[in-house]
Amino acid sequence: MAIDEQKLTALVQKGVQDMGATISGFLVYLGDRLGLFRALRDSGPATASELAQRTGLAERYVKEWLCSQAASGTVSYDAARMHFFMTEEQCACYADENSPSCFLGAYEVIASLFADEPKLLAAFHSGNGVGWHEHDPRLFSGTARFFRPGYAAHLLGEWIPALHGVEETLQRGAKVVDVGCGYGVTTLLMANHFPRSQFLGCDYHAASIERATELGKNAAVHTNVTFALAGAKDYPGEGYDLITFFDCLHDMGDPLGTLRHVRDTLAPRGTVMLVEPFAGDRLEDNLNPVGRVFYSASTVVCTMASKAQEVGLALGAQAGEARWRELFAEAGFRHFRRAAETPFNLVFEARV
Ligand SMILES: C[S@@+](CC[C@H](N)C(=O)[O-])C[C@H]1O[C@@H](n2cnc3c(N)ncnc32)[C@H](O)[C@@H]1O
Repeated sequence: MAIDEQKLTALVQKGVQDMGATISGFLVYLGDRLGLFRALRDSGPATASELAQRTGLAERYVKEWLCSQAASGTVSYDAARMHFFMTEEQCACYADENSPSCFLGAYEVIASLFADEPKLLAAFHSGNGVGWHEHDPRLFSGTARFFRPGYAAHLLGEWIPALHGVEETLQRGAKVVDVGCGYGVTTLLMANHFPRSQFLGCDYHAASIERATELGKNAAVHTNVTFALAGAKDYPGEGYDLITFFDCLHDMGDPLGTLRHVRDTLAPRGTVMLVEPFAGDRLEDNLNPVGRVFYSASTVVCTMASKAQEVGLALGAQAGEARWRELFAEAGFRHFRRAAETPFNLVFEARV
């Protein structure tokens, strides 16, 4: 078949964009590690030489890095003054840890994946899993860093109020377990906001639980939060009024077994809150920029993490609402509904 020149040109143009995004992404990661974005934000408009002085870094490399980032659009360039600077929007995406638009954690995650290449290649050959705990540690820190601003923006003000009666229960005093809590970002946000409720954050990954415990101490969150090393099918306690899963149930090998444990440990009128990556039910619904990110992460992190565990269901990060509804029904939950959504997340509510 003859090549359609227009289609080829369009694909080549996209290829150049993507190649630029990939190589420049590495430079975003370096700039973050070196403190260049923060320094440029703090200095205001600066020449390469001024930024090099401010950061104590080698001027020639700082200049080249600035040029690469100006070409990428992560920083701006004033040609008349030969100044580089960051707009408010560029700061929100590349220099403000607390902004929900901040991408920096994502680049830490991506860097971890390059370091894990041998394990990922081997998994493709063997079909075996790669456990969450087996990854380069930047996966853990990068995930917490990337997710935190989104949780801070939506969890307390939108997602919890969207669940029937849960906010009131938490205000009065409730018992909560946050399963697969990682660094405990969500556990700590909730514990801080609802001082009358008791929170347990649990995760099977020891290093994450250590970090969560440390962050809890530093945040000086009262006495209403503890962290425990425990898997999703054997976390301690029962009679929970709220059981939460933030972006982790699809990573587990046995979501159905987990949901059965959840049913057994839930208070009679208790609620399950499931937060998952945004996804439509059909592949064709997810062939878009957000789906592209999630399917990619899912290939090398989520499906492999699940495969490394008992059952190894490997739902992937794009399982979709219909599949979740099915699993909850199979585990004995009669009530299941989509309570909220953002462009990146789906929030479900379930009850027995
Ligand atoms: C993508 S991270 C999300 C972490 C955290 N919930 C957040 O949103 O920042 C997935 C988490 O699930 C945890 N996890 C995976 N399988 C698990 C299991 N079977 N039991 C408990 N935690 C598990 C991992 O250790 C990891 O911390």
